[in-house]
Amino acid sequence: MQSTDSVDSARQHPTALQSREAQLDPFEWYAEMRRADPVHYDERRETWDVFRYEDVDRVLRDQETFSADRSGSGATAAGTEGDGGAVLKTMISTDPPEHERLRGFVNDRFQPGALSEYRPRLEELTDELVDELEDAGEFDFVDEFAVALPVTVIAELLGIPPERRDQFREWSGALIARPESSDEEAIQRMKQRRETAQTEMGRYFAKLLEERQGGDGDDLITLAANADELSRQEKIGFCMILLLAGNITTTNLLTNAIWTFEEQGITEDVGSGDVDRKKAIEEVLRYRSPVQEIQRIASEDAQLGGQQVEAGDVVNVWVGAANRDPEVFDDPETFRPERRPNQHLAFGKGVHYCLGAPLARLEADIALERLLTRFERFDADISDLQPISGHYGLEFLHCQVN
Ligand code: HEM
Repeated sequence: MQSTDSVDSARQHPTALQSREAQLDPFEWYAEMRRADPVHYDERRETWDVFRYEDVDRVLRDQETFSADRSGSGATAAGTEGDGGAVLKTMISTDPPEHERLRGFVNDRFQPGALSEYRPRLEELTDELVDELEDAGEFDFVDEFAVALPVTVIAELLGIPPERRDQFREWSGALIARPESSDEEAIQRMKQRRETAQTEMGRYFAKLLEERQGGDGDDLITLAANADELSRQEKIGFCMILLLAGNITTTNLLTNAIWTFEEQGITEDVGSGDVDRKKAIEEVLRYRSPVQEIQRIASEDAQLGGQQVEAGDVVNVWVGAANRDPEVFDDPETFRPERRPNQHLAFGKGVHYCLGAPLARLEADIALERLLTRFERFDADISDLQPISGHYGLEFLHCQVN
């Protein structure tokens, strides 16, 4: 059976991806595994690693055999502490039919049509951040823009008063923070900071949910407050999961886009419209997927890619490897900004398909349009890249505009 230890250990880097170089460029290893050992059991991490598109797609769609419920492990974003220290249950780690109850009430609000009415406001928020970059001239794109934009946007959708946004950013930063070094003290400091942020946020959301219950505002906190099918803890969990699931991922999409456009020498072409921006964003999602791996737990014995998986086994699907599978994509190792069709799995598949995908696409579209048309030149220094851990993105990206 799955234990806390086995889920935690599956989250370590595979041996092949220990170095900084390999984390930045895991794609050769993926190609080798897709070819030679596509459903592989890693004894050290006690997990199955799955690399081919067909198998990854099957695991994500087949929620009866491969459960998203990693509860008890404390290892998922959903294992979030609430105001009373209880572990919160959210949609990302529940299976149907409970999953439907936790997601159903909000689904419509994240559809492209519903989001389009936010577009002018999102443009305004983006412009404010771009103004700051203009004033600075030189900046770390990750810190000054890619982290700031998604958290500002989600605060707007939740209806967080502007004066609390800095606090909100601080909490959000604490949730995704990594230790400054690998020594035990730094790890403890980071954990402490995260726990404090979680407790404070839990209390903050609990209070707002209470205040807005029965209200008629169109913000997401009011929507959750009035969702009778959710318990108090589930409402708090919903607010927190939006921060956890939506921020670092969107940060990395924006960063990976600027990195890749610079590398491919197409920054100006995307800005001028010679390269279709929306298609280029899809290709960034495929080529440098912010989420490279997703975990499931086998709920029954199953055959997968010719291997026998047993009930309770941890199954790690490599979305980043599936997205470069030559069985599905022509010339997969090449970044083709106009690629069509582009049926990448960067937002997952099946019932857990990313709730925020339309929002992430809208944010990226507005951001790249504003960034690449405002300035005559937008240069990124890609000579020294440092991968982040946990997701696929960069620690920093020094840029210069004029
Ligand atoms: C480029 C940005 C993003 C990427 C790459 C991304 C990726 C993903 C992936 C791969 C999943 C599936 C997880 C699984 O199957 O276990 C997921 C789920 C989810 N995402 Fe995103 N995400 C992004 C942005 C967002 C945003 C902006 C939000 C919200 C504001 C969001 C909210 C969620 C939620 C709530 C789920 C859980 C859905 C469910 O379990 O039914 N994501 N995301």
